[in-house]
Amino acid sequence: MQEKLGDYSVTLRGRQYKPLMVGGMGVNISNSRLVLAVEKLGGIAHLSDALLMDVCDRELGTHYSQTKTRRLKQYINSSDKSEDSFDLKDLEEATKLYITHVMRRKTGRGLVLLNCMEKLTMNAASETLRVRLNAALDAGIDGITMGAGLHLSSLRLMKDNPRFREALLGIIVSSVRALKVFIQRAAQVERMPDYVVVEGPLAGGHLGFGDDWAEYRLEDIVRDVRKFLDDNGLQQIPVFAAGGVFTGGDAVRMIREAGASGVQVATRFTIAQECGLPDEVKQRYISSQPEDVEVNHFSTTGYPMRMLKYSPAIESDVKPNCETYGYLLSKGQCSYIKEWFARKQARESGAPMPEHAKCCLCTHMRNYKVWTCGATVSRLKETTVKLPDGSWYLPTAEQIYNDYMTSTGDHIEAARPQS
Ligand SMILES: Cc1cc2nc3c(=O)[nH]c(=O)nc-3n(C[C@H](O)[C@H](O)[C@H](O)COP(=O)(O)O)c2cc1C
Repeated sequence: MQEKLGDYSVTLRGRQYKPLMVGGMGVNISNSRLVLAVEKLGGIAHLSDALLMDVCDRELGTHYSQTKTRRLKQYINSSDKSEDSFDLKDLEEATKLYITHVMRRKTGRGLVLLNCMEKLTMNAASETLRVRLNAALDAGIDGITMGAGLHLSSLRLMKDNPRFREALLGIIVSSVRALKVFIQRAAQVERMPDYVVVEGPLAGGHLGFGDDWAEYRLEDIVRDVRKFLDDNGLQQIPVFAAGGVFTGGDAVRMIREAGASGVQVATRFTIAQECGLPDEVKQRYISSQPEDVEVNHFSTTGYPMRMLKYSPAIESDVKPNCETYGYLLSKGQCSYIKEWFARKQARESGAPMPEHAKCCLCTHMRNYKVWTCGATVSRLKETTVKLPDGSWYLPTAEQIYNDYMTSTGDHIEAARPQS
């Protein structure tokens, strides 16, 4: 009989779980509804801490972003955003409020983790990261997965927190080289990660590769990482393979052939009923074709990003909104601000228009206008059925989760409306 992903388990802190995590999808795409639906099934899922003050406002009716905008309104027309600081007390309060609110609704069957992105530099990288990490621990998050950056100081920033050794801590890497450096830092604070996620070149969101991403294979990196951990006495640390794991069979192959202990997936869950994307966007994901997907440089982070090439953000000329958001500011700058003000000046002076090369990532991720997706997005139509009105049925998180767990080989059971 063929093996199913559900036949396997992964051990984290002495407790066994099904070896599938739903990856963090900012901004509020992996929202509390999706994460709690997966947790209820005994699964593991990530909230994202991207734009968390805004997410808190939308979900809990607070006014953190409005207060920030009011405090900083004198800089709205300035191209120098050096003064656009975050109020660290508000950041801490919003993080605690939101995470506590989610953790209270957990069943205790699974795990709710937080995806914390280092590239959210928030105009004071170290100070804001310290607040975000510690507030999440204080609010009782089951664990933090550190991504989008090397996180060389993150463990140190958390080391005095009473939950530093109790909560799960994981790191996302795209190469064994990045992991080596992280492990050296982890040794300095005597706190090894509880798990490692290897994100390959087919993932959604930002990629930890350059333009040569297509030359890498997830299974090779997983093998290298597994070997590195084993050779360094870290056999107990499980490795999760992420990026392009579309079927239960793909997941089983990662475990059997590449030495992963589990997988992290996202694209299949983007169309879940519970997922934060608007339903119209979910329909666009399902009807996409392979040629609609591109890896481009419209993100201001400096990392390449995969998205549908007709994402509305790409053409947009929206005014930078750093007084309200400003999550990607570093020393008062972001590459989109430079571009926007240069274009404004060109318009006013009649000079040639500079190239439209970046998008306002905060504003557009917040408004679901960057349609980021994994390389497999056009296969979503295999996972569901068309309804009589011509739209696609949106599966529940449970249907997607169960399909990963119970399917064999490369079979996908297309989800149908439940009677
Ligand atoms: C819509 C979307 C948004 C994502 N946002 C983030 C994010 O905010 N932070 C992050 O570390 N990874 C992000 N990712 C990557 C996923 O967490 C995951 O590791 C990866 O997409 C898995 O590959 P798959 O989509 O092929 O299953 C995102 C992926 C998608 C599809």
